[in-house]
Amino acid sequence: MYCLLHFTPIYKPHTGGVASKNIKVGTQNKCRTVHTSSQSYRLVLTLMPRSYRRKNIRSNIVLVTGGGSGLGRLMCLKLASKGAVVVTWDISHKGNDETVRQVVASGGKCWPYIVDVTDRQAVYTTATKVKQDVGKVDILINNAGVVTGKKLLDCSDEAIIKTFDVNSVSHFWTTKAFLPDMLISGKGHVVTIASMAGKMGLTHLVDYCSSKYAAVGFDESLRMELLSQKKFGVKTTVVCPMQIDTGMFEGVGAGLLKRMLDPNYVAEEVVDAILMNEPVLILPPYMKFLLFINLCLPGKSQYYLAQVLGADNFMDNFVGRRKTQ
Ligand SMILES: NC(=O)c1ccc[n+]([C@@H]2O[C@H](COP(=O)([O-])OP(=O)(O)OC[C@H]3O[C@@H](n4cnc5c(N)ncnc54)[C@H](O)[C@@H]3O)[C@@H](O)[C@H]2O)c1
Repeated sequence: MYCLLHFTPIYKPHTGGVASKNIKVGTQNKCRTVHTSSQSYRLVLTLMPRSYRRKNIRSNIVLVTGGGSGLGRLMCLKLASKGAVVVTWDISHKGNDETVRQVVASGGKCWPYIVDVTDRQAVYTTATKVKQDVGKVDILINNAGVVTGKKLLDCSDEAIIKTFDVNSVSHFWTTKAFLPDMLISGKGHVVTIASMAGKMGLTHLVDYCSSKYAAVGFDESLRMELLSQKKFGVKTTVVCPMQIDTGMFEGVGAGLLKRMLDPNYVAEEVVDAILMNEPVLILPPYMKFLLFINLCLPGKSQYYLAQVLGADNFMDNFVGRRKTQ
C-alpha cells in the first residue's frame, strides 16, 4: 500500500470538492504523511471494485465518426444500451441508416449525419448542427478509418493523402469543433481509435501505420496538454487493437499474428475503457508485453522479432473491403 501511494502520479483529479487533509499511512517504520487529498482519493478509487469505478453515461451525447459500419456501429449499439444518446457521422448513407435502425430496434436513440470527416468545413458546419439538434457532445470517438494495403511505391499520392486525412488529420477538425464545450463544462472525453499499427511498423502499411502513429501522437500530446492546463475533467483514451474481424483487414494475418479479434469483444473493451477513463487500451492485452520487449531490443533485432511473429507475411493475403463490399 505504501508503494502504491508512493508511485501514484500526483494528478489532482476532478473530484468536485474532496477536502484536502493530511493522512498517515504505512507501518510504524514506514509511516509517511501524505499531504494531498488526490493521493488518498486515487487509492480509494484503485481499491474499489471495477463496477463502482465506471462512470455513468446515461443521457450523455456520444458522437462516433465512422459509426455506419464495423467497430463504429457496435460502439454505437453498446453506448446506446448504457443510456447514451448516440450521434453517428459517416460518409455512407446506407451504413448510417442501418446503425440507426439497429440502435432504435434495441431501444436506444441515434442521430445520423452524413459527413466526410476530411472536409474541414463540413465538419465545422455539421458540428454546429449537432449542437443545435441534439446538444453538447460529451464524448467524441474518432473512429472513421481507411486502409490502402499496398506497398509504398504502389500507393497513389491521392491514396496516401486520403489515408492521413481520414485516419489522423480529421481528428484535429472534430476535436477543435467539440473540445471547447468540454473545457467550458469541465468534463468530456476524446477517444482516438488508432491501431497496433500505430505502435509497430508493418510491410504494405507504410501510409496506414504512419497515419496511426500520428493518431497515437495526437492523443498523447492532447492528454499532456489537458493535464498541463489542469483540465482534469476532460479525459482522453487511445485504442490500439490488432486486426479485427470487421472486413477492413479481410485476409490479413500470419504466424503468431494470425488471429483476428472479435469485433464485439473490441467494442465492449473500448466502451469499458471509456467508462473507466483508461488513457490507453491495447488489444489483445499481451501485446503490451511484446511492445515492451520490442522497445528494449536494438534496431536490427526488432526486425528478427517481427519475422518470428509473422509480420513479414502479415499482408500477403490482404483483400480488405474489396471482398466484403
Ligand atoms: N478492422 C481492423 O482490423 C482494425 C484494427 C485496428 C484498428 N482499426 C481501426 O478501427 C476503426 C474502425 O475500423 P472498422 O474495422 O470498423 O472499419 P470499417 O471499414 O468497418 O468502418 C470504417 C467506417 O469509417 C467510415 N469512413 C471512412 N472514411 C470516412 C470519411 N472520410 N468520413 C466519414 N466516415 C468515413 C466508413 O464509411 C465506415 O463506416 C478504424 O479507424 C480502423 O483504422 C481497425
